[in-house]
Amino acid sequence: MSDHNDPNDNSTGHEWDGIRELNNPPPKWWAWGFYLGLTFVTLYYIIYPSTPLNNGFQKVINGVTGMEVLVDGHSKGIMAMVNSNPYYKGETWTQAEIDGFKAKGHAELSIKAGDLKYQDGWTAINEMRDDVADIEAVRAGYIEKLAGMSAQQIIADDEMRNFALGRARVLFGDNCAACHGSGGQGTLNKAHPGNSFPNLTDDDWLYGGWTDKIAETITEGREAEMPAKGGNDELTDANVDSLAQFVVALSEGSAALNDDGNLTRGASTFASANVLFQETCAACHSASGKGSLIGSADSYGGAANLTDSIWRFGGDMKTVRDTIANGRKGTMPSFAEKLDETSIKILAVRIHQFGGGMNSDPTE
Ligand code: HEC
Ligand code: HEC
Repeated sequence: MSDHNDPNDNSTGHEWDGIRELNNPPPKWWAWGFYLGLTFVTLYYIIYPSTPLNNGFQKVINGVTGMEVLVDGHSKGIMAMVNSNPYYKGETWTQAEIDGFKAKGHAELSIKAGDLKYQDGWTAINEMRDDVADIEAVRAGYIEKLAGMSAQQIIADDEMRNFALGRARVLFGDNCAACHGSGGQGTLNKAHPGNSFPNLTDDDWLYGGWTDKIAETITEGREAEMPAKGGNDELTDANVDSLAQFVVALSEGSAALNDDGNLTRGASTFASANVLFQETCAACHSASGKGSLIGSADSYGGAANLTDSIWRFGGDMKTVRDTIANGRKGTMPSFAEKLDETSIKILAVRIHQFGGGMNSDPTE
């Protein structure tokens, strides 16, 4: 031990194996850091919600039991007092809700209509909620405006169209992209042609590509039915083969039909196939093979155009033969339950603006 009575010795008197502990003041930088830290903590405590405290406890009704309970609280900080809760747009109790609880036997409630359901002053979360509410308020204005506009009016108005397209992009991603692809390009599933989904970005339409018709497709859904052998059981395998060759030839251009169903090209090769086609297939695909979309608006049954080399299920001989022999049943689900009218309208605008939209019903 050192001699601790020596006034010039600034040792604490602790010594281990010759190492003495001195009583020097801490370095200045450290002391400043310490005092700044203390100041920060104190100011933070005063300004922001921080410490769990009784004064923050608050009466609320427990929605399950109907009992009045105290909920956890915390010091609110002068942010809350100075601003008297500008950030919290909390819900308040309505008389009907309180009466509901009283009717269930909780007569002792001291909460009155208009009391905040839960109030906790300024918190980062409440500030965020407030920002979100501001954004929602702006959006709500736009959405209300969209509701009153027709799809054509939306397309013609730059500002509203841009807003609608942005919103519809999200709706499309959430509801449609799984089948139609993120950009609406569809999919051709070579291994399982029945699991193919149509391209919505081209100008080839099964049901019609003007906005009202697209909205109808989304609202009601579509159930297409290409019956096996076109519904004609008398077709032989050889008939199916020659029809498959004929259909592929119509797309490739080595055969062509006029609107009356007469061959204008390939007459020598496909005369007998065309007889079968006109008997069995023309009822749905039309005499020219151009599909049901050229008929009246009421008869759009989704029967594809067989002359345009755009294939819903695949245009190789094997797949076409399989389509004719076994039929196809494409189902577009209905979104009437899932999406409101305005959402469907702006989705129709988005699909129309993918590029292949028609301006109006071509048969009108
Ligand atoms: C009752 C109406 C109906 C008849 C009759 C009919 N089809 Fe179809 N066909 C359809 C419909 C609807 C589709 C679309 C099916 C779908 O999208 O699921 C279709 C699709 C097709 C396709 C697929 C086209 C593609 O893009 O992949 C081919 C090929 C086809 N039909 C050929 C024929 C042939 C050949 C006949 C005559 C033997 C025939 N169809 C008779 C309604 C019919
Ligand atoms: C479960 C898969 C699936 C989902 C999800 C789906 N679709 Fe479809 N959609 C289809 C199929 C299959 C068809 C083709 C029906 C047929 O074979 O005739 C189709 C057809 C369409 C057509 C008609 C195209 C034409 O050529 O006339 C439109 C438009 C369309 N879908 C839009 C949408 C929109 C918008 C959504 C999202 C709200 C959506 N689809 C969601 C499967 C789906």
